[in-house]
Amino acid sequence: HPHIAYQDNALCVEGQALSALAQAHGTPLFVYSKASMLDALAAYQRGFAGRNAQICYAMKANSSLGVLQVFAEAGCGFDIVSSGELERVLAAGAVPAKVIFSGVGKTRAEMRQALQAGIGCFNVESTAELEVLNEVALSLGLRAPISIRVNPNVDPKTHPYISTGLKGNKFGIAHEDTLATYQRAASLPGLQVVGIDCHIGSQITEETPYLDAMDRVLDLVDAIEAAGITLHHIDFGGGLGINYQGDTPPEADVLWRKLLAKLDARGYGQRQLMIEPGRSLVGNAGVCITEVLYLKPGEQKNFCIIDAAMNDLPRPAMYQAFHHIAPLAPRAGTTTQYDVVGPVCESGDWIGRDRDLAVQPGDLLGVLSAGAYCMSMASNYNSRGRAAEVLVDGPQAHLIRVRETIADQLRFESRIA
Ligand code: LLP
Repeated sequence: HPHIAYQDNALCVEGQALSALAQAHGTPLFVYSKASMLDALAAYQRGFAGRNAQICYAMKANSSLGVLQVFAEAGCGFDIVSSGELERVLAAGAVPAKVIFSGVGKTRAEMRQALQAGIGCFNVESTAELEVLNEVALSLGLRAPISIRVNPNVDPKTHPYISTGLKGNKFGIAHEDTLATYQRAASLPGLQVVGIDCHIGSQITEETPYLDAMDRVLDLVDAIEAAGITLHHIDFGGGLGINYQGDTPPEADVLWRKLLAKLDARGYGQRQLMIEPGRSLVGNAGVCITEVLYLKPGEQKNFCIIDAAMNDLPRPAMYQAFHHIAPLAPRAGTTTQYDVVGPVCESGDWIGRDRDLAVQPGDLLGVLSAGAYCMSMASNYNSRGRAAEVLVDGPQAHLIRVRETIADQLRFESRIA
């Protein structure tokens, strides 16, 4: 990663030594590179040059205010999934008309709030939701702009927990029910059909599932428009993977050149396009800095116990995910194989397995590719406070989140009277 690299044996983000940031702010500490986020965004922007396209950052990947601000200032829209995300993104300066609302379980209150904010589109995921949204919009004297999320039934070939476009998933409307659902939507006075939406999964590293999904979505567009319903935009979701461990996902611009060729060939090249990328915009822009607390040799395994845990970095415990672990100041000499684990009282609390490291207690390590689905999934398990976050922008390091204290946690609780 060009912005996260060693300089004189010191791991740096945009030239700033991570060890100095750890000294200033403590560990565990998330550090993000603004340049890296903007580079990732630029790959999509290159892919869409000359096209009518709106990039809606799927903020669930990393919803910290400072990160959202970077994307809002770069002109992005946002894909949200809750009223909490709506409030965050408005606080970060998003344009409401560029906000789209996904998710299978929107409440009436969330619908009202989003309608009153004037968001651009609701991505509706069921017929029941369609009826409720119609009622809520009518009660406010408004019309809700909608697209229907279709389930194209393609296998994204990723971890089952993050596949979403297969028949057995809870997401979207089945391919064969799509036309009837659009006809129903078009008949409801509180709704205005504006687009079609699909999202097949996350951490996708092959182009074939995307190309197949595009074909299947465009078949539906043909059928819906033949029935007299106009679709102003086509939203193709997110899901493009990143390199965690020698993964080789297509570059965003290369993938989109191929997808746009399909759209052009089928006569839809001039439609407004929307996408909802999350991980590919932020994943490789972040590092989590952690301190080695203890080394614990064992008969079968050696353990390297660090001060970051599954509450900070939940992906290994949840998806057996791999994150590269790099010493901030590599030591010369022989390495030992360790399971790198956190202090949480569960065997699932591991961050890396069978890692060859030359480390001593007190050393600092960087857990790489930690920009997406780490802080946004962090919890207070074991009454651990959430980590602090720093956004590096060239010579500047902005503290965008202070470390959570136990007072912060106890603020919401009370002893029984
Ligand atoms: N749009 C929709 C409707 C989604 O459900 C998602 C992600 C995205 C866009 C963004 O997908 P991305 O570009 O980030 O792949 N926690 C898991 C990933 C869950 C993804 C959920 N949906 C992980 O850590 O791998």
